[in-house]
Amino acid sequence: MYHLIDDTITSIRRKIGDFVPEFGIILGTGLGKLVDDIEVEHHLMYSNIPNFPISTVEFHTGKLIFGTLKGRKIVAMQGRLHYYEGYSMQEITFPVRIMKALGIQKLFVSNAAGSLNPAIRKGDIGILDDHINLLPDNPLRGPNDAKYGHRFPDMSQVYDKIMQQQALNIADRLGYTTHSVVYVATVGPNLETRAEYKYMRIIGGDIVGMSTVPEVIVARHMLLPVFAISIITDEGFQEDLKPVSLPEIMKVATEAEPKLTSILKELIAMQ
Ligand code: HPA
Repeated sequence: MYHLIDDTITSIRRKIGDFVPEFGIILGTGLGKLVDDIEVEHHLMYSNIPNFPISTVEFHTGKLIFGTLKGRKIVAMQGRLHYYEGYSMQEITFPVRIMKALGIQKLFVSNAAGSLNPAIRKGDIGILDDHINLLPDNPLRGPNDAKYGHRFPDMSQVYDKIMQQQALNIADRLGYTTHSVVYVATVGPNLETRAEYKYMRIIGGDIVGMSTVPEVIVARHMLLPVFAISIITDEGFQEDLKPVSLPEIMKVATEAEPKLTSILKELIAMQ
């Protein structure tokens, strides 16, 4: 995998010239609309980037966008890849390696998640302080290239403390209900059973989702400071768990989108 990076960078550089992004953004659920605020300078379809996997989920379009946001140079992944879609961990995280090689100094990630904690409700926002990886694989499995990071990377403080505090302050000022959370990563694509939600709460999780952790592990392998934000789309703590449908999850995510977008824009502007 490491040997593919140089080819991909050469190809991207031919198209974007000397544009050097300061920040990378993975536009997961809840941040889709952020693209409207980006002054786009270049965009490349994943399908036209050598060694990039192709996004399969219909509501993701699969583009790498280069431009400015709040006057800062960014690269944004429109279309994130999930393990449940069948990609390998290396495929899911390859774009993070590429964004780092292009020059990013910080990574911003968003996702949708279900709540495990009765104090955290549908429509609220979670700022990740930690995670529990329940995925059955790890993007760092296999030979390690010491040029990119340590064999045994430290994970004692995964999510950047300063950016967490800045985001909590922004959210507070804007009047959004926001929580500092532990995110549990699961494969999906099914949602959890009642017993699984209960288990994830008992082991220390506040929210659960199907993404983010692979990309974050790879970013931390390369010592990139990371910020991650979740939109809470459903509640998995009720005794009488109601069926949740994807349209319902997407509706809550869409309604909360402006909140995530404004937090992220302000946060990026102050880095
Ligand atoms: N579980 C797992 N992933 C999710 C959920 C959930 O309840 N909601 C949104 N993504």
